[in-house]
Amino acid sequence: MPRNIIDVTDLTVEEIDQLISTAEDIIANPAKYQDACAHKQLATLFFEPSTRTRLSFESAMLALGGGVLGFSEAASSSTSKGETVGDTVHTVSCYADIIAMRHPKEGAPYAAAQFSEVPIINAGDGGHNHPTQTLTDLLTIHREKGRLDGFTIGFCGDLKFGRTVHSLVNALSRYENVKFVLISPAELKLPRYVKEEALKKRGIPYRQTESLEDVMPDLDILYMTRVQRERFFNEEDYLRLKDSYILTPEKLETARQDLSILHPLPRVNEISVAVDRDPRAAYWKQVKNGKFIRMALILKLLDIHV
Ligand code: NCD
Repeated sequence: MPRNIIDVTDLTVEEIDQLISTAEDIIANPAKYQDACAHKQLATLFFEPSTRTRLSFESAMLALGGGVLGFSEAASSSTSKGETVGDTVHTVSCYADIIAMRHPKEGAPYAAAQFSEVPIINAGDGGHNHPTQTLTDLLTIHREKGRLDGFTIGFCGDLKFGRTVHSLVNALSRYENVKFVLISPAELKLPRYVKEEALKKRGIPYRQTESLEDVMPDLDILYMTRVQRERFFNEEDYLRLKDSYILTPEKLETARQDLSILHPLPRVNEISVAVDRDPRAAYWKQVKNGKFIRMALILKLLDIHV
């Protein structure tokens, strides 16, 4: 059976730390890795829109000297003729050495993995999980703070449908002394199953609030998120909730000088462009880090040692 990454807990904490140190080495010595995946192929199967995740996977494989193939919308694959995800993935696994797959249905990459002869990476499944964004976030936090423990992180926005939040809460709950502050409107709270699995079961305290202002001075990291329009059942609710939080330079006046602001992107309205000039804004660095950590992950799953 190939090794799949469906959930961030498919990796141990030691493996995550190892991926971060490989990514750091890639950043420092890119030339060392440029032929590491020569003659290997990565397929990106995206049944849902993406900019960063798909292109960073492809850019990662190209920087490792490998090739890329795939599709960026279900309409251009045989899915539109009625082919099952299992058959599509079975087919692609005959042509590629590793597959990154995004799908609107929760659990689809797990189901697809049963039909694959090569490793499958979950590149986002519905409102469930997004483990490689989490690896990107962890590398960014590590680069900004020098550690992955002993800080207070505030998650702000759509904690209900935001899959990047679910995976990152899960991952950080395995590190020591991380304090969680969950900031959302009542309708968009972190799902109970994530709270149970990641926080309550491990006895990790957390605080829930609707007010970003109240908690801003306490935060070492602020993880902003977009309200996930495509997962709402009706447009009215989306319109009512979409501008619940808008981060501006004024709102940051009470924040710590060493705060790090993260966002998986795309942003819609929740961070004003003026914040980009604030040295605490780390989200464009996060975009770059996404490529390096995915390079490290591809090497690991293909068992290539440089
Ligand atoms: C996120 C996603 O797809 O879940 N984007 C990403 O992969 N960087 C966040 C989002 O779409 O809001």
